[in-house]
Amino acid sequence: MISRETIDRVFETARVEEVIGEFVQLKKAGSNFKGLSPFSDERTPSFMVSPVKQIWKDFSTGKGGNAISFLMEHEHYSYPEAIRYLAKKYNIEIEETEQTNEQKEQADERESMFLVSEFARDYFHKILVEDSQGKAIGLSYFKERGFTDETIQKFQLGYSLDEWEAFTSEALNKGYNLKHLETTGLTIVKQDLLSDTGTKQFDRFKGRVMFPIHSMSGRVLGFGGRILTNTKKAAKYLNSPDSDIYHKSNILYGIYYAKQAIAKEDNCYLVEGYTDVISFHQSGVENTVASSGTALTENQIRLINRLTKNVTILFDGDAAGIRASIRGIDLILEQGMNVRVLMFPEGDDPDSFAKKVSNEELKEYLQNNSQDFINFKVSLLMKDAQNDPVKKAGLIRDIVISISKIPDRIQREVYIQECSRIMDISENVLFSELAQLDKKEKRDATKRPTQSKLTAPVLQKTPQFEKIDELKKYEREIIKILLLYGNNEVEFENFIAGEEVDDNEVTPLKKEYFKNVVSNEIYLNLQEDEVEFTDENFKQIYYEIIHQLNQSKSILVDAFINHSNTEIANLVTNILMDEEKHTLSDWKRKNIVIKSKEKDLAKMVLDAIYNLRRVLIEEKINSLISVNENIDEREQVLETVVNYTNLKLRLFERLNRVV
Ligand code: CTP
Ligand code: MN
Repeated sequence: MISRETIDRVFETARVEEVIGEFVQLKKAGSNFKGLSPFSDERTPSFMVSPVKQIWKDFSTGKGGNAISFLMEHEHYSYPEAIRYLAKKYNIEIEETEQTNEQKEQADERESMFLVSEFARDYFHKILVEDSQGKAIGLSYFKERGFTDETIQKFQLGYSLDEWEAFTSEALNKGYNLKHLETTGLTIVKQDLLSDTGTKQFDRFKGRVMFPIHSMSGRVLGFGGRILTNTKKAAKYLNSPDSDIYHKSNILYGIYYAKQAIAKEDNCYLVEGYTDVISFHQSGVENTVASSGTALTENQIRLINRLTKNVTILFDGDAAGIRASIRGIDLILEQGMNVRVLMFPEGDDPDSFAKKVSNEELKEYLQNNSQDFINFKVSLLMKDAQNDPVKKAGLIRDIVISISKIPDRIQREVYIQECSRIMDISENVLFSELAQLDKKEKRDATKRPTQSKLTAPVLQKTPQFEKIDELKKYEREIIKILLLYGNNEVEFENFIAGEEVDDNEVTPLKKEYFKNVVSNEIYLNLQEDEVEFTDENFKQIYYEIIHQLNQSKSILVDAFINHSNTEIANLVTNILMDEEKHTLSDWKRKNIVIKSKEKDLAKMVLDAIYNLRRVLIEEKINSLISVNENIDEREQVLETVVNYTNLKLRLFERLNRVV
């Protein structure tokens, strides 16, 4: 693990505007920078970086955070990957905390496997472009397939010499360990009683062109190697065996190169082969990845799901595999993704088709020929079942199973209507079939509880919905005040209740003035009312603020911007950036707004607290009215309600509101 000290140093050193400046063209705008959102296509800038607060905010997508979260969003790094990237950028030495020997060994082991794989990538590439055999055989093959030098460079393609251990000896010479050559599968080690060592070794990928397979963040996990002759009986492609770093079923070929385009286009093209991916990229369709010829797995779908909700599956022209693939597609629906499918003309695969047409024609074809998966499936299967009632019944069930995988209820209903039309069967039949499946699903889900988590819960709009939102609004307001002005001292007004002359007459409230630190005033008020935040994130932020106040007498906003819980960091960034939004336009109203806010700070604080109280009281009243139906207790309930209503009126009075 990276040590706390290293992480702190990275945070101290990294400047958000410098980090983002490498990916987005930023222009100075007052005290901030602005630029075009890297997460959407836009013409007018809505992306903003605040060097003062060291945060960024993308108003077009609502994303925001610190330097780390930018790298996580934009480069899809994990947290430690982002830290390592920054450490490298700022020349900070990474200290690792003490690990158990076993952990250390395992980490070292994996790291060594990465290193030897990266060495292999560089070696194979060098052979391809510099060695005479490499150029004559490997490079000319890629050229013949139409790959440009730029493409070959970008995908780090290579060639493994047609010799028994050219690569292995070079790696051993360079000091790499045979053990890691073996665990990565680059070298095959076999028993050989005749040799001095008792073993013999040879290059797995002998005589093949090489396709490095990258992780989401660009590390080399393994290789695919294609044979160049059709004569041999050997497999066309040979892949690295599964290992500690390479799990075929967890990775998609090309994801490292495609991730930004997938997020930007908000769609992912899924193809089968290495060359399909490369040809598409070369033709300018960069949001393309490959499942590498196997059935799609849940983990692979999850990789895409991090980037977009939309997948388009591209099928080869020869439709043989289509029926077999269809079942696997339910897995994608299950993760709440929208699936479209697209067929290429008979005899073409994505690679060959892309070669035949211009970039524009390819894009046009993709745009105009994809169709919704469910519709596609219905039409396809209907052809089989036309005049066969038994088949048709099976088909209905089959389709409804697919539809039942879709977590979104409204979308399901749309499909039911659609299918009813295409299949010429009443909606009711389909709905009742669906209901039965749902029931069964629920029964099964209780048997295997982990499975049910995969489907997103359907959001239910309760009558209480708006109230909860209002509550959150004021909770957010209080957190915002704490973060922005919590350390300020201001003069507050207090109202002292007048003496009660008798039940009917109360003298007006009297005002008094006193100074207090904003955070303290809020704390005292909330404590007095025993208010708990309902929103979990606000609750956590609030407790951490209290903790900070106890420790250091002031609120440290940076601790939240750089919070290890990215949800909190993001939330706080959003709150802080509320104030900056209008500086995007050139009105320059910023100073006026902020100044008037400072002046009315005391009022703002008290308003927020009173508003929160008011909403809480209203909730209380509502729950009293609705829940209790016992006539005997009704009177008592009513009395409580009246009391609460009075309290509410007093609050309104303080808020200077007309009831
Ligand atoms: N594949 C594999 N092993 C094989 C055959 C195929 O791993 N023996 C995987 C590869 O990832 C390959 C994909 O399945 O890219 C699709 O296979 P195929 O369509 O046969 O190959 P293409 O990608 O079209 O390759 P090429 O155009 O070079 O023939
Ligand atoms: Mn092909």
